[in-house]
Amino acid sequence: MRRPMVAGNWKMNGSRAESAALVDGIVQGMGSVTKAEVVLCPPYILIPLVAEKLAGRHDIPWGGQNLDTHVSGAYTGEVSGPMLKDFGCTYVIIGHSERRTYYHEDDGLVAEKFGAAHAAGLTPILCIGETLEEREAGQTEAVVARQLDAVLAAHGIDGFKNAVLAYEPVWAIGTGKTATPEQAQEVHRFIRGKLAAKDGKVADNLRILYGGSVKGSNAKELFGQADIDGGLIGGASLKAEEFLTICRAAE
Ligand code: 13P
Repeated sequence: MRRPMVAGNWKMNGSRAESAALVDGIVQGMGSVTKAEVVLCPPYILIPLVAEKLAGRHDIPWGGQNLDTHVSGAYTGEVSGPMLKDFGCTYVIIGHSERRTYYHEDDGLVAEKFGAAHAAGLTPILCIGETLEEREAGQTEAVVARQLDAVLAAHGIDGFKNAVLAYEPVWAIGTGKTATPEQAQEVHRFIRGKLAAKDGKVADNLRILYGGSVKGSNAKELFGQADIDGGLIGGASLKAEEFLTICRAAE
């Protein structure tokens, strides 16, 4: 049985005070979240604050939103996997569409980052998904297959034994335009089927999250689909009550 998971991707948001209040609010409401794994992914600079606030708790792991492929050295502005690990991170988001689009991360680099996460002892949350143009051209499956194949070619199906996938249709991110539960399920089923062709057990155990304008009001229907195991939440993860409502919807 796959444990549901709800991860908050704060993106580039939050002052220290806002972030502290957000973590406090989530912690206070955790009593009502009994089954889902709740993960927080703050910006790099807020990771120490989150780590400090959550130290000693085992119910809310945290992670980075990105990492560099190198371990250390002259890479100005970058943060490595071992550095994230040193600050208690368990997870790291890899290949988010904003990284792919604004920072030109291609499939090859994303695959490298996936490996760098594992090498540092982190669990990658690998994001894949098509643009509106690609969907309208009927290329959704081809695009997510290509994105998966790059990682499969580099790390094999065994790379997915310790990983989380997030299907995030680019057109649904931050737009308020959520994929319908049926649209999302169709792609999730395709993804799981593709991986199952390589190893049924790995595919069956793999958590595939949906991301893109998930809110308290639409989460339950999305998470109710057979192959949707939770969500990767952007905007709605910045409000404790809204985020907790989404976490409860995953149970
Ligand atoms: P929104 O929930 O703000 O649409 O963002 C989704 C996302 O990109 C999470 O990684």
